[in-house]
Amino acid sequence: MAKITVNTLLGMKRAGQRITALTAYDAPFARIMDEAGVDVILVGDSVGMAALGRRDTLSVTIGDMIHHAKAVTAAAQNAMVVVDMPFMSFQVSAQKALENAGHIMQESGAHGVKLEGGEKYADRIRAIVEAGIPVMGHIGLTPQSYHQLGGYKVQGKQGDGARRLLADARAVEKAGAFAVVLEAIPAELAATITQTLHIPTIGIGAGAECDGQILVMHDMLGLSDGPHPRFVKVFSDLRTQVKNAFTAYIGEVRGGAFPAKEHTYSALTESPLKVVGKKKE
Ligand code: KIV
Repeated sequence: MAKITVNTLLGMKRAGQRITALTAYDAPFARIMDEAGVDVILVGDSVGMAALGRRDTLSVTIGDMIHHAKAVTAAAQNAMVVVDMPFMSFQVSAQKALENAGHIMQESGAHGVKLEGGEKYADRIRAIVEAGIPVMGHIGLTPQSYHQLGGYKVQGKQGDGARRLLADARAVEKAGAFAVVLEAIPAELAATITQTLHIPTIGIGAGAECDGQILVMHDMLGLSDGPHPRFVKVFSDLRTQVKNAFTAYIGEVRGGAFPAKEHTYSALTESPLKVVGKKKE
């Protein structure tokens, strides 16, 4: 399989081929999803909740992102790896955004960055793209602003909000982004944005008419705690399978069934205790 690039993704949109994207934060899962043929692996700042036990994404740092992105880029052979710019890494100024995007790219070996926000942050997208770094936009429900949005709520349900999101999508495209994530917006609005833009839209809770779909890996594998948003489909109940494996291990160790002979090295013909106690001739 050929390496996925920004051109591949644009070509897929033109050809009407759906783009697949998932988040990953470590090498083993990145390797498996790459082997399965996913097009884009996002090292999302959702790492904070999915893997680091945080309440939200706000405390995730550039260091956290680089740490996890390095593991993902080391494992992924074909997928395009995109790294989230965490909270406060791009909000302050276009200059800061450019410096931080460059730092993330240099340290992580990723192929692009993603940042949340539309028209308001178009100058950040432009500055980063002009430096030769591919940028994925992210509009609709932008979790880094959830306090301002009043929670994790569907966006663009009313006329004004919908018009603003369409303007955001256009601004992100005009600024040079190669794709845009549409999170938690009505399917009809996502379809309009998808038809309006030349760049691919990647939906999460944005209906079936987007050019591609993304899910948080831990959600779709049934590894996350608590209730899921409506848009999550759990493709495998790994939590139960993993728990069963842990329970079986505990039982076998306590009961003496593990380790068995086949898990045990045997180099000494005599007991180590006897060898230790043996006198030198
Ligand atoms: O951080 C993340 O995982 C994301 C996806 C939900 C798009 O931004």
